[in-house]
Amino acid sequence: MKILGLSCSPRKGGNTETLVTEALEGARSEGVEVELFSVHGKDIKPCDGCQTCVTTGICHIQDDMQDVFRKMIESDGIIFGTPIYFYTMSAQAKAIMDRTYSIRRPEFQLASKVGGIIAVAGGIGLMEAIKDWYFYIAINHMLAADYVSAYAGGRGEVSDNEHVMKTARELGRQMVQLVDTGFRFPEEYARRGLSGYVAQKYGV
Ligand SMILES: Cc1cc2nc3c(=O)[nH]c(=O)nc-3n(C[C@H](O)[C@H](O)[C@H](O)COP(=O)(O)O)c2cc1C
Repeated sequence: MKILGLSCSPRKGGNTETLVTEALEGARSEGVEVELFSVHGKDIKPCDGCQTCVTTGICHIQDDMQDVFRKMIESDGIIFGTPIYFYTMSAQAKAIMDRTYSIRRPEFQLASKVGGIIAVAGGIGLMEAIKDWYFYIAINHMLAADYVSAYAGGRGEVSDNEHVMKTARELGRQMVQLVDTGFRFPEEYARRGLSGYVAQKYGV
């Protein structure tokens, strides 16, 4: 089993990275493989909307996202971590979200994986990002774990918050337990959206 943590903050050693790392430590304590991917210093371009991936399942943009696709597909659980920028997720988080259109179409390659969320704001605006990641988890036919949210401003300051750090660690453990349940999205729906399924089944 492998749990991947995506830290979508460009700030090295920041609060998002700190909490995602702690969650991964929680998962590791359950004896599974873990990996942290931080966007810091990485080249992740925004989606250009070409939509060729809808039929090919391949994103033509050659950058570090190609590595992220591979890591996501190989994982059993993914923790989506983002700082809050202007009341929502970071641009890097949104770029990752959009680029994964290519592993959702034509096949839902994230289906049945477990998804957890971590969001950190200085003081306000957590819910937009958390809501959007949960919707992402749902439409990718993943199984939702809990979310962890925190308020912290200075680099790595969140590590002083014992409650949040312990909550992040528990999220990691919970991810492993959820993967262990062997959840499978019903196969007839797993690889496409519900409306596409209905269109094909009933011809309407
Ligand atoms: C461009 C930018 C926009 C921000 N917007 C918000 C915001 O809307 N609400 C908020 O509470 N904090 C905001 N912050 C503060 C960050 O959310 C906060 O410092 C957080 O801890 C950063 O996480 P990191 O250390 O993982 O990068 C913003 C920071 C930056 C750089």
